[in-house]
Amino acid sequence: MTHESPNARSVAVILLAAGKGTRMHSDLPKVLHPIAGAPMLHHAMRAAQSLSPRRFAVVVGHGGEKVAAAAQALVPDAMVCEQAEQLGTGHAVRMAEAALGGFEGDALVLFGDTPFIAPETLAEMVAARVGSDLVALGFEAAEPGRYGRMVIREGRLERIVEAKDATPEELAITICNSGVILADCATLFRLLAAVGNANAQGEYYLTDVIGLACGDGLLCRAVLCSEAETLGINDRVQLAGAEAIFQARARRVAMLGGATLVAPDSVHFAFDTALGRDVTIEPNVVFGPGVRVADRATIRAFCHLEQCTISDGAAVGPFARLRGGTVLGEGAYVGNFVEMKNADFGPGAKASHLSYVGDASVGAKANIGAGTITCNYDGVGKHRTMIGAGAFIGSNSALVAPLVIGDGAFVGSGSVITEDVPGDALAIGRARQVTKPGLAARLREKFKAAKAARKQG
Ligand code: UD1
Ligand code: CA
Repeated sequence: MTHESPNARSVAVILLAAGKGTRMHSDLPKVLHPIAGAPMLHHAMRAAQSLSPRRFAVVVGHGGEKVAAAAQALVPDAMVCEQAEQLGTGHAVRMAEAALGGFEGDALVLFGDTPFIAPETLAEMVAARVGSDLVALGFEAAEPGRYGRMVIREGRLERIVEAKDATPEELAITICNSGVILADCATLFRLLAAVGNANAQGEYYLTDVIGLACGDGLLCRAVLCSEAETLGINDRVQLAGAEAIFQARARRVAMLGGATLVAPDSVHFAFDTALGRDVTIEPNVVFGPGVRVADRATIRAFCHLEQCTISDGAAVGPFARLRGGTVLGEGAYVGNFVEMKNADFGPGAKASHLSYVGDASVGAKANIGAGTITCNYDGVGKHRTMIGAGAFIGSNSALVAPLVIGDGAFVGSGSVITEDVPGDALAIGRARQVTKPGLAARLREKFKAAKAARKQG
């Protein structure tokens, strides 16, 4: 038996994600259902990344190609191992043997449907590996139900017995198995080769390696974490519950980090939302993935933001929608019913009301009047609108891209602008006003007379 220091052992992760997720009643594989804007399996994968794994194997079955693509979106060199038939967790881990053959180090087995494993807990498991051969993660279950039970004697984990195979005495045990296991990779595969399926479910249980290891004179230990961390997701009620747990944590982190959430329960974060100090988030704001909000910025009520960057002191909303590729400069302002996409605003630029700004760049301190639309799409392709610093776009203008409006230019309100406007020029693209004195009164009389004639006839 050799026990190196935890630092000396490199780690390979085996993520089990082959299950069908029948109870989701979904065309989408269970592990791809999102939590906080990221597919479920990314959460466990991110926790595992804290150990800087040398290799990453993902065991896929149902919806394998989609699951593999999602895993590789986060870890591009993740190895995909197919488990054509789901014959149990032990069988699933064996599917990674070819990919990890010869790996010198530890294997960490994680489940794709268990998103809340904390990096700190994984670090505890790594620490517990010093002085033991296998480490399994357990928890004190409020309702042990169908979880595997951990048989622990004098600090040694002797066996894990599945609920369906347990004796009444074993069922009385409340320390349950989370499914996470850490062991020397070669040892794990050697033990798995001896696992059979003569049990209540006719499955190859990963958990059987514990009893086999003890039989071989190896030392197994349990590390315990909170039940919330090992929460597994099987149906959409649990999915919603997991989302709620994530949100509650994210709100707490945001507030403790210096952001004011006026009504925390109404703010929805993504897994990667980043807020600075003295940021204020008003009620009913939704953050999709990829949003960074710098210090002193304000997001007013009912905004929806994704893939965007809000600089220091900028203000957004109420009722604004910032889509992918939006960048607001320092002190910029985007007001109510403004939609932006793939557009950047220079420092102090403003669109205060009712605009669509897409595929555009707007210079510092430019002002976009109410109702302005960048017409970026011609039915086939997208085109850019460039608006210079200090430009003033009159209300209700349609800016037909591709278009360049120079620094300091003016656009008269109600214009349809189809040609570039040089700096400091005034462009007006609308019919000239015609005023006919008295004509309204004369028309009114004429209409009244016609109506009277219809009644008589
Ligand atoms: C497993 C554990 C149990 C533990 C529980 C915690 C075993 C035998 N039992 O039971 O001790 O208390 O998790 O939630 O390990 N999977 C595959 N291929 C398979 C079977 C499973 O990839 O052939 C994946 C599933 O997609 C899932 C994970 O492994 O992500 C766990 O499988 P599941 O069937 O949910 O195991 P449990 O019966 O809940
Ligand atoms: Ca399960």
